[in-house]
Amino acid sequence: MSAYNVLVVGSGGREHAIAWKIAQSPSLRNLYCLPGNPGTAQIAVNIPGKATDKEAVAAAVEQNAIDLVVVGPEQPLVEGLVDYLKAKFPKLLVAGPSAEGAQLEGSKEFAKDFMQKYGIPTARYRAFTGETLDEACAFLEEMRPPYVLKADGLAAGKGVLIIDDIEEARAELKEMFGGKFGNAGSKVVIEQYLSGIEVSVFVLTDGTDYLILPEAKDYKRIGNGDTGLNTGGMGSVSPVPFADKAFMQKVEERIIRPTVKGIAAENIDYKGFIFIGLMNCAGDPYVIEYNVRMGDPETESVMTRIDSDLLQHLAATAGGTLKDEKIEISGKTAVTVVMVSGGYPEKYKSLYPISGIGDVKKAQVFHAGTAMSGSEVVTSGGRVLAVTANADSIKNAKEAAYKAVGCISFKDCYNRSDIADDLLAL
Ligand code: AMP
Ligand code: GLY
Repeated sequence: MSAYNVLVVGSGGREHAIAWKIAQSPSLRNLYCLPGNPGTAQIAVNIPGKATDKEAVAAAVEQNAIDLVVVGPEQPLVEGLVDYLKAKFPKLLVAGPSAEGAQLEGSKEFAKDFMQKYGIPTARYRAFTGETLDEACAFLEEMRPPYVLKADGLAAGKGVLIIDDIEEARAELKEMFGGKFGNAGSKVVIEQYLSGIEVSVFVLTDGTDYLILPEAKDYKRIGNGDTGLNTGGMGSVSPVPFADKAFMQKVEERIIRPTVKGIAAENIDYKGFIFIGLMNCAGDPYVIEYNVRMGDPETESVMTRIDSDLLQHLAATAGGTLKDEKIEISGKTAVTVVMVSGGYPEKYKSLYPISGIGDVKKAQVFHAGTAMSGSEVVTSGGRVLAVTANADSIKNAKEAAYKAVGCISFKDCYNRSDIADDLLAL
């Protein structure tokens, strides 16, 4: 097929960035987003609905003669949106794993067992339930601090606790079994602490072959110097200097290849993105986690570095023909700075008018938590905008991103001022 009608499912900065890249493809006929946001509205037709509403997505597919669906967030994947769509529309191309494949993100225990079975380097671990609390406490005694406790299920990025004191770790464990993270914490993985620098590696796979997308580093904490509360991500950089050729070769051999082989060996229907969160421990990569989607705000940096046709790559992923695909990656550096509502990740106010987006010249502004109020763009979430600039060095990309951020304002707006600084210093 030469021209595709494409539906992107989701509403964040990640989905805006994916849609933005797809919109550049000569193979695109019409682009739709469900529900999308005011940013995607400029390049696609937004269809109201929830990403987790299977019937709404199916209706959008039917009414718009969609050829390819790209699912952005993890929740609908874990809940089986892909299985549902494929059963209903046998010819539809869908980029996103089945519910079984999505367990790589949806269950930490599933992911860890998978890694162990296929010899993929990861931290030593065991999984426990409330019934095996005594064993869990005994396992803690065997470990050295800090102690890493992970709720098994999806917990909106909050299910990982890293604790120095064993007493506190025991108490937290009890709280997790007691329902602190709802059902997500009814099972808990306890694992060895890995020290090193993190990097996010992204892969597209059709279950047999794979394409490696640009890697990125994200900045999770709210404050400069990686201080304060954990957020969904305050910025990102791609490429990551320490993820050089030698390191990426280890990642491909020790992690990507066995992961895809494992997916095939388990007969898992997996045609979509894999996001591998890695720790670089003295030059050796260890998997911290799998996600079955792209990262946010890594995607915003990653998409600006793909020079080849993402829509073709996604269609080949969904169609099982990735073997013939080649990806072209820009040598430039991308830096993304996220502008958030004051107070985030705790309480914040919304519906403040945003000004200055139109003044940004040499950067891309991706919408994350925005809405329209009449003809005005207003804030509507914690993470409001992701501003991405590309340049020939980290320093220049950072400068350009912050220059663009400086053009934009809304009441109580906040952003970190040190995105990429740690990489400049390396
Ligand atoms: P996750 O929700 O699995 O991404 O974990 C959240 C964050 O916790 C990761 O991005 C790491 O910074 C940290 N983390 C998770 N597991 C470990 C580990 N075994 N050792 C050190 N840090 C970890
Ligand atoms: N930026 C990390 C994530 O998307 O999970």
